[in-house]
Amino acid sequence: MLHRAADNGSLMMLKIGDLTLHSPIMLSPMAGVSDLPFRMINRRFGCGLAFAEMISARALTYRNSNTLKMLSTHPTDRPLGLQLLGNDPKIMQRALDILCDYEFDVLDINAACPVSKVTKRGEGSAMLREPRKLFEVLKAVVAHSRLPVTVNCKLIYPARFPSSHQ
Ligand SMILES: Cc1cc2nc3c(=O)[nH]c(=O)nc-3n(C[C@H](O)[C@H](O)[C@H](O)COP(=O)(O)O)c2cc1C
Repeated sequence: MLHRAADNGSLMMLKIGDLTLHSPIMLSPMAGVSDLPFRMINRRFGCGLAFAEMISARALTYRNSNTLKMLSTHPTDRPLGLQLLGNDPKIMQRALDILCDYEFDVLDINAACPVSKVTKRGEGSAMLREPRKLFEVLKAVVAHSRLPVTVNCKLIYPARFPSSHQ
């Protein structure tokens, strides 16, 4: 149904950089959920872009085996987005060097995750408290990436960080 609507031109075409999506339906990155089988099921139902599970840039630079497993894909698992978590421009760039060996289409930076084990390291949504640092991270990533870069962030800052109002 979704495909037919797209063919009729009644669904909006989305472009991210040079990438044109055949459907505006996207599967967001979901830690512990958006693995390869889950992505393939969603693609069968018309998903135009699927994101893999969030990857920690630091864990990637350690070549952590669980992290490398999360990069599992298949030629039909496209277009594919990867989301990186991290707040250190140098580590983000080292992670991008490793990702050169992997096929994907969009890079997303996580400035949204509110989970305390992430925010206590200053990563995820905690970066919204430090806009200058977030800018440095994004500047380094965009300068180093061959792919379009997007950012996932919350419009409303998590209530547990009252300093966000300052
Ligand atoms: C189980 C679960 C895991 C998630 N993991 C991530 C994640 O790793 N990175 C991220 O940016 N958002 C993550 N999210 C948030 C989703 O990507 C999405 O932004 C959120 O569910 C809001 O989308 P909705 O308004 O369509 O529900 C997660 C959400 C759920 C339910």
